[in-house]
Amino acid sequence: MLLIEIGAAFGQEKNDMKTKFSVVITAALTLAVGIGSISCKKKQPAPADAAAKGPARMDVTRAPFGTLPDGTAVDIYTLTNKNGLKARIMTYGAILVSLEVPDKAGVFGDIVLGYDTLDGYVKNNPYFGAIVGRYGNRIAKGRFTLGGVTYKLATNNGENHLHGGLKGFDKVVWEAEPRMEEDGVGLKLSYLSKDGEEGYPGNLEVKVHYSLTNDNELRIAYEAEADKATPVNLTHHSYFNLSAGARDILGHELMLAADRYTPVDKGLIPTGKLAPVKGTPMDFTAPMTIGSRIAKVDGGYDHNYVLNKPEVATGLAARLADPPSGRVMEIYTTEPGIQFYSGNFLDGTITGKGGRVYAKHFGLCLETQHFPDSPNHPDFPSTIVYPGRVLKSLTIHKFYAK
Ligand code: BGC
Repeated sequence: MLLIEIGAAFGQEKNDMKTKFSVVITAALTLAVGIGSISCKKKQPAPADAAAKGPARMDVTRAPFGTLPDGTAVDIYTLTNKNGLKARIMTYGAILVSLEVPDKAGVFGDIVLGYDTLDGYVKNNPYFGAIVGRYGNRIAKGRFTLGGVTYKLATNNGENHLHGGLKGFDKVVWEAEPRMEEDGVGLKLSYLSKDGEEGYPGNLEVKVHYSLTNDNELRIAYEAEADKATPVNLTHHSYFNLSAGARDILGHELMLAADRYTPVDKGLIPTGKLAPVKGTPMDFTAPMTIGSRIAKVDGGYDHNYVLNKPEVATGLAARLADPPSGRVMEIYTTEPGIQFYSGNFLDGTITGKGGRVYAKHFGLCLETQHFPDSPNHPDFPSTIVYPGRVLKSLTIHKFYAK
């Protein structure tokens, strides 16, 4: 195996952490990523074996992942923590391409939907794994008024604006800076969204910091700074399937720490009410199988839940479990809401990683966020970022098996 130390590209980071870790490009991995196939169900040593052989090598590697139609090169980074969990993230859309975590037998599986190659993401991506912005979810009629000015945004979902518009943050190439960190490995991505992009006011500098910690957490920390007041609602849009594609998500058990949700109209725009979930199929305050009541929810789940935790504090938002594999994911966030989307628009027309057909409910999203259409609802927590104020937001996905 050829190991090449990354020099200038990693700059100071590498020097700082040199004594603790080594950052390597693994030629074999480069080749594997280059040909675009990483197995979904690779048998890895069970924890007991791993302990006997010593911990997995913690590292960050980089490889080319293809070129966009305009010739821009896209890289993919593989983050591996000391327990062998792996997250692959590419510079296009800051997309989490795969996430391998163990089941209760120690078998690793990729628990996010996506494609084997860049081409799939470019041609048809319903936001698989992407960072969504400038505004996650919908803004009614693509219109809002701020400081006495009415702004008109791109509309890409009927008459509404969805997930940042025609070319949101999921379709741009981010600058990447890999990092070895005290408690794991990380990748810092940055993007400058220009004044007027998709109709939004002001330049917005966005930073997204993914970390894969040795406590088996995938942490996503966001920062944004604007030079004019603008709405911002950043989120991560992975479609999770904790069975690693063995079955759909209707048998997954979900707990949402939310007593209320924001009911929507036919266009999925909040009516403005915060309705109690108690006594309805929307209630996930105690763990419930997703499929048990989904037929009673028109169109399936695609709703923003109002989290019970105090605003801004990092509190528990959700716990998702796949009982047969034993995989569990907990989500903690500083955000006031979480969009539970049960993959209702997947319809079997997408063939994803490893040739798997993604039928309805084959993956689900749990998008930590501010509420949809907040710029048009003064009663909702504000999404406006003002010049001189830095938006900070943190979401943690914690993995274990039982
Ligand atoms: C939205 C859905 C939308 C989907 C797009 C979700 O965040 O809530 O309504 O269809 O993203 O993939």
